[in-house]
Amino acid sequence: MSDKIKVTIDGIPVEVEPGTSILNAARQIGGDIVPPAMCYYSKLEGSGGKCRTCLVKVSKGSEKDPRPMPKLVASCRTTVMDGMEVQNITSPEVIEARKGVVEMLLINHPLDCPICDQAGECHLQDLSYEHGAATTRYEFDRRTFDRVDIGDKIQLHMNRCILCYRCVFTADQITNNRVHGVLGRGDHAEISTYIEKAIDNDFSGNVIDVCPVGALTDKTFRFKNRVWFTKPVEAHRDCPTCSGKVTLWYKGEEVLRVTARKDVYGEVEEFICNTCRFDKKSTNDWVIEGPRQVSRQSVINSNHYDTLQPLPVIKKNPELMEANKEQFERATKF
Ligand code: SF4
Ligand code: FES
Repeated sequence: MSDKIKVTIDGIPVEVEPGTSILNAARQIGGDIVPPAMCYYSKLEGSGGKCRTCLVKVSKGSEKDPRPMPKLVASCRTTVMDGMEVQNITSPEVIEARKGVVEMLLINHPLDCPICDQAGECHLQDLSYEHGAATTRYEFDRRTFDRVDIGDKIQLHMNRCILCYRCVFTADQITNNRVHGVLGRGDHAEISTYIEKAIDNDFSGNVIDVCPVGALTDKTFRFKNRVWFTKPVEAHRDCPTCSGKVTLWYKGEEVLRVTARKDVYGEVEEFICNTCRFDKKSTNDWVIEGPRQVSRQSVINSNHYDTLQPLPVIKKNPELMEANKEQFERATKF
């Protein structure tokens, strides 16, 4: 007899292991019915429960107790029960509540996407585009902070932080000396090292990748380019510290930045070390695997990315060279 649990999400049944959260059950189905998640991160133990973007309606609690749950629940923190029925995109109540959550997240977050390095790959930008209301009811000034350099490679722009705690969990769980955290409570809460101490260890750069907004940015990439003008390429190297599997972001022949590879939910597949991220910015440092698949909806795909190839990849292959002649000429003009 199977000891799996059957749950139905937006009318689609799925069988999952006991203890699975509704969000992860939805991820097993995939597609539109997966609730958005701004704070949950499957690779970080204890994450979730902070942002409320993953709210869903449980219209049937379980086979044993079919009563609906009285309020919307955070799907990242609610485990499935056998026979549970959940509504996400099929519930007008959830859609309405999510609009409110986005409005709440934007109460203090500046609308500075045109100058923010995260634009084009910002989860809050996507979320407000898909679920947000065009107006806000908030009349007060937003909280503002000075920008803080956390060491020489990372900059914290606290104005943009949504207090998801992902960077805190990252520093706690994959580095051995966390020196930053959330200080203060309520409207005074902020990410800080208190004395602007450098986050200084081999894996500290991963806080940049887990940050869902532009609060923690890579100083070696800041203001260098818009992400949709760059071409992501998968590459690897034999690294003694991490897996060495990364995404290189090219402009022409130049590697503008190096990040961990991310999955369909924007989570890193494997954390990478600072040497790979900050010190290996030459094509010669890497074994190029090929262009990274980018979702059709992504702004990074805006110039028909699937037909364009990064120059180092083109140059290695005469057929690609011929097929991409026009792109090659255009790119080498800059
Ligand atoms: S800095 Fe980024 S990752 Fe850290 S809590 Fe703020 S939004 Fe989350
Ligand atoms: S993702 Fe569930 S509360 Fe943030």
